[in-house]
Amino acid sequence: MVPRHIAVIMDGNGRWAKKRLLPRSAGHREGMKRMIALCDHAFEAGVEYVTLYALSAENLTRPQEEVDGLFALFRKYFAENIGRLLEKGVRLKVIGDGALLPPDIVQLSREGEERTAAGEKGILVLAIGYGGRQEILRAVNEAVRGGKELSQEGFSSLLSTAGIPDPDLLIRTGKEKRLSNFLLWQCAYTELYFSDKMFPAFTNADLDRALENYAGRERRYGKV
Ligand code: IPE
Ligand code: IPE
Ligand code: MG
Repeated sequence: MVPRHIAVIMDGNGRWAKKRLLPRSAGHREGMKRMIALCDHAFEAGVEYVTLYALSAENLTRPQEEVDGLFALFRKYFAENIGRLLEKGVRLKVIGDGALLPPDIVQLSREGEERTAAGEKGILVLAIGYGGRQEILRAVNEAVRGGKELSQEGFSSLLSTAGIPDPDLLIRTGKEKRLSNFLLWQCAYTELYFSDKMFPAFTNADLDRALENYAGRERRYGKV
């Protein structure tokens, strides 16, 4: 079975560049190109939701030059790709803490979401300035203000991913085996897949292998 929702931790851009004696910014540029093509491929394979970890809240503590370079790449992404998403019928949703981002990027995100709102062929969730604990804490504080006990569904509906099913498959490239604060609540029963390849080198065929691997898994959710 094709997973309905895949989440991808796109890690390894810096090491990909380093190995080629290039600046980290070149790795991010290459990663962005790969992200766009990989996303098209996932939707063509029948995946309905693709969630991409593009920038964590913690990544914003990197040297300003690198952070500014990443912001510039996001601006370019919005300028060049919203039209493509529209053509493909893909709806964009941006999650993360807008207060951590330059206001024009928040504005571009909102515009992208509005322009693609009628898309019905797939949903692309872009996590920028995102942190799982931060998201949970925001929801807890909102719940406390509401003063009522919540069900799991009620709590999920307070998260930035409200209305989106939990990921079926989480892919992390770049060799590390950790979640790095991504979708902590949502990944309770998600299947995990780790690739040693650095993200810019993670091909469409590598994604096919991950999807095939998922198809062979048995999901039990605690049952026998
Ligand atoms: C992932 O690649 C992209 C972002 C976190 C923005 P990295 O920049 O973390 O690359 P490595 O892990 O240093 O190789
Ligand atoms: C995770 O990668 C975040 C993204 C890919 C956006 P990191 O490179 O930030 O993760 P750590 O620091 O190695 O855990
Ligand atoms: Mg990294």
